[in-house]
Amino acid sequence: MAEREDPPAVLLEALHKRFGERIILQDLTLRAEPGERIALLGESGSGKSTLLNIIAGLEPADSGRVEIAGRSLIGLDDDHAAALRRQLIGFAFQAFHLLGHLTVQRNVAVPLLLNGIPPAEALDRAATVLGRLGLGTRLQAPIRELSGGEQQRVALARALVAAPRVLLADEPTGNLDPSSARTALALIAEQAAESGAALLLVTHSHEAAAIADRQLVLRQGRLEPA
Ligand SMILES: Nc1ncnc2c1ncn2[C@@H]1O[C@H](COP(=O)(O)OP(=O)(O)OP(=O)(O)O)[C@@H](O)[C@H]1O
Ligand SMILES: [Mg+2]
Repeated sequence: MAEREDPPAVLLEALHKRFGERIILQDLTLRAEPGERIALLGESGSGKSTLLNIIAGLEPADSGRVEIAGRSLIGLDDDHAAALRRQLIGFAFQAFHLLGHLTVQRNVAVPLLLNGIPPAEALDRAATVLGRLGLGTRLQAPIRELSGGEQQRVALARALVAAPRVLLADEPTGNLDPSSARTALALIAEQAAESGAALLLVTHSHEAAAIADRQLVLRQGRLEPA
């Protein structure tokens, strides 16, 4: 009997999205296999962040199909959708969305704690990822005391820590110096390879896009080869 193939990590079909009269996504299709690294390019305002939000189930599409590892978040109640999202998806947001009153280490441990990992192990794993991003000496700092580039690395650590099936990274090196950016990109690529995660990397940087297997550009609501 033929082996059953893994479902695609991300499957988008006939996706449509508008904000008022503005068409953002139009009949968009995407298939990302496990372990595949895709760079998403496109002008400011073309809809890249909106697309990631729809994939993560944080923004509804007007119509179309969204599946993560063969499963749809659409139609689930909020709690189930959130639980599935936490298990399957790591999201490094363009605007970070960190918890300003918590420490660096706790911010990164949050997804693990919510997934039921014991606190000591969650904090330990958070510290390991943060150390690799050069933040090993800032574990106990409150987020609000961090620079923009430091916060960006915390946001990335939080997205990586649970070894997600799909890693959504929205301009994850936009605030970093060249050396920190290279470290961050190497870690993203390595984690994607180790855990077989599909990577969707939104970037304006050619250096960042170069870690991808495929480069796509969002133009007039659709993805085309760059
Ligand atoms: N909640 C919203 N309501 C109305 N319009 C929105 C909303 N969110 C985004 N938009 C609009 O949709 C368009 C796409 O926004 P989006 O943030 O996805 O672009 P982007 O490609 O990520 O841009 P950038 O490269 O600047 O981050 C923009 O014109 C934006 O103003
Ligand atoms: Mg954006």
